[in-house]
Amino acid sequence: AYLGIDLGTSGLRALLVSDTGTPLGSTERHYAAAHPQSGWSEQDPADWVAALEGAAEELRAAHPEFAGLRGIGISGHMHGATLLDASGAVIRPCILWNDTRSHAEAARLDATEGVRALSGNIVFPGFTAPKLDWVRTHEPENFARIDKVLLPTAYLNHYLTGETFADMSDSAGTSWLDTGARDWSEMLLEAGHMRRDQMPALVEGSEAGGTLRPDLAARWGVNASVVVAGGAGDNAAAACGIGTMNEGQGFVSLGTSGVLLAARDGYHPAPETALHTFCHAVPSRWYQMGVMLSATDSLNWLARITGAKPAELTAPLGESLQAPGRVRFLPYLSGERTPHNDAGIRGSFTGLGADTTRDDMARAVLEGVAFGLRDSQRALGATGLRLERLMAIGGGARSRYWLKLIATALDVTLELPAGGEFGAALGAARLGMVASGDASVGEVMTAPAISEEIAPDTALTPAFDDAYTRFRAAYGPTREIQ
Ligand code: XUL
Repeated sequence: AYLGIDLGTSGLRALLVSDTGTPLGSTERHYAAAHPQSGWSEQDPADWVAALEGAAEELRAAHPEFAGLRGIGISGHMHGATLLDASGAVIRPCILWNDTRSHAEAARLDATEGVRALSGNIVFPGFTAPKLDWVRTHEPENFARIDKVLLPTAYLNHYLTGETFADMSDSAGTSWLDTGARDWSEMLLEAGHMRRDQMPALVEGSEAGGTLRPDLAARWGVNASVVVAGGAGDNAAAACGIGTMNEGQGFVSLGTSGVLLAARDGYHPAPETALHTFCHAVPSRWYQMGVMLSATDSLNWLARITGAKPAELTAPLGESLQAPGRVRFLPYLSGERTPHNDAGIRGSFTGLGADTTRDDMARAVLEGVAFGLRDSQRALGATGLRLERLMAIGGGARSRYWLKLIATALDVTLELPAGGEFGAALGAARLGMVASGDASVGEVMTAPAISEEIAPDTALTPAFDDAYTRFRAAYGPTREIQ
């Protein structure tokens, strides 16, 4: 059997798959992110370890196949900075991907000659390099103690094996990697005041990075030769889980963040746009994506302040899509990456009337997120990429209304994977299979059967086009009044 772990922003999911890659069982553990100041977002890596231990223990107890474990793959939220001192202790809470405190450092790095060209990306405030520069300035005593910087996935790799290694897909989100050459760049490290010896060793996501620590193997009752793969950033892992490997394939992911991702056969950076261009989790492949910071986070926020559960907000909308109304929502609760690269912007509701209901506001939130994804689609389109079909994944894809809305707003057909969706955890398990030498990338990274296709409601296309034009026009004035 193989174990796939997806370290998400709101919780960790563990998935056990059989020797042939079929899901046997999964479980989840939740944890919180702390927001000590506006725009800050942190987690304690000890919470990830506790979640991993608890989830693995549950799967071990429930499935006899666990004893035959051969490989493990980890997927995790990207860009987070986990700082270790020379004894391997965590120095401070991990600064997460949706933390924008380091916007000034990001702007400085981004303006440094050669940085975009080598890293292939804008240096966004959420990326790792500006975070370290922030720590250097604001917490010099912590900075001085740094022996290694590990991304969340690499931290769990380290916990499982005692080794420090990271895969290419996650490492591409640091702004320290030469994304085309798939290696740390001396120039980028220097620009960020870091050294190569503070970086983990690089492996491909589907390569073995180490083996399970003997004490853990003994505790879990598994063979000491269990292989731990390089693993992947969550979006690359999700792509592996649904077979988004080649040019022409893509997905939309409705998680805490919203992602529109397209697999690329070659390296085609577009750092003049707010698109992200990263290595894939398998050799000689890359992918490109637009990222919005608050997708289900926007709906969760509305649920929180109205005292409802997210599903209680979407259920009353039914399944038949309505044309956008007067109420509009800009989904910039934590700033935005694609297309604005603007850490300071915040969201808004406009068009409220005395007659506005909670349903109107819920609909506006779903529409605002859909239009944010359309912004990413536009950015991909500018590089010549137009995908007619997209797989839909992530927690938000459980809302039928939202799916119809996105299909219509983006004018694409959405495909739903049959048999539920294990996304990044399945991708991670597949990386574990390949890393243990039991299968090849081509054999396991396949697309699932499609249970259903959601086509755009073309009668509503003009109304959505019009509303999208207004959505785009709203950013500038909103910026001005903030
Ligand atoms: C990608 C990104 C998010 C996180 C969290 O660049 O920041 O998608 O990986 O899911």
